[in-house]
Amino acid sequence: MRDKILKILREHQDEYVSGEMICQACGVSRTAVWKHIRELEERGYQIDAVRNRGYRLLYSPDVVTPEEIILGLKTDVLGREIVYRDQVASTNELATELAYQGASEGTLVVADQQTGGRGRRGRAWFSPPGKGVWMSLILRPKLSPAYASQLTLVAAIALSRAFSSLTGQQAGIKWPNDIFFGSKKCCGILTEMHADHDRIHHIVLGIGINVNMESSEFPEELRDIAVSLRIVKGESLVRSKVIQSVLTYLEPLYQQYVREGGFSSLREEWKLESITIGRNVRAVTPRGEIEGTAVDIDEAGALCVMTESGEIVRIHSAEILF
Ligand code: BTN
Repeated sequence: MRDKILKILREHQDEYVSGEMICQACGVSRTAVWKHIRELEERGYQIDAVRNRGYRLLYSPDVVTPEEIILGLKTDVLGREIVYRDQVASTNELATELAYQGASEGTLVVADQQTGGRGRRGRAWFSPPGKGVWMSLILRPKLSPAYASQLTLVAAIALSRAFSSLTGQQAGIKWPNDIFFGSKKCCGILTEMHADHDRIHHIVLGIGINVNMESSEFPEELRDIAVSLRIVKGESLVRSKVIQSVLTYLEPLYQQYVREGGFSSLREEWKLESITIGRNVRAVTPRGEIEGTAVDIDEAGALCVMTESGEIVRIHSAEILF
């Protein structure tokens, strides 16, 4: 209902909309309309209310609430259900709980702040309020569990494209799942899966995007290695629009990944967004370090590294250092 009221106020941003008109359009009482207006104000919207004239929207805050994300979202599946929290330990944790409770394909879990945001390899993920996009998608692709890790590569294509289009600067993928501008990271992906031997039950695709931080707002230890879309673009971005853009780029790629049964048909597209291929890399794997030139990515998403001796080593899981 709040979405509907907000939509009406947005469509008439330059004029007052009578309470009566909103009541009729939404099929609710005047008291109910007033209650929703108060709730919108509590969420940071400024709405002028004038006797005998009605309501006029003066200001919309930069929030990642369902009403902001849904307005103008053009996807069919991703983000059609949205669960929002002002604060949560980790959207991946909440999404996992909801997935076990039966949440539908494409459900988006999003929070303004995470108090226990999780990164890869057990690291913490810096997730302050009001500055980033901390979100997790619940996906249920009908694929064998062997293909689950490839979803990360698919998401990375969408994120890189979305960020280039939002900032006007070229973003790129550092294999397997980091999005960079130049030598600094602006986004990470954490994919977690529940499956049995032949079937994926659900995947939680967690995405953390540094959107509006200033350089000085990153903790000291991240300042040299992290960047935000705002720093790259030179102006702040509306976080709900960032989410819309990511979902819009991701949906057709995700559908292709499900339809074609994995990542292989998207391999060339991944390479176009890559900043890894052609670079000298040091891959820190569970079985030791490998140094060489990243020459390709194979059909399964493994990074192919040519060592000094000319041998090609396929790397399935590693931390890559340039
Ligand atoms: C990485 O280490 O690069 C992955 C970072 C993933 C962070 C996101 S933020 C939303 C979701 N919830 C989490 O706790 N982590 C992921």
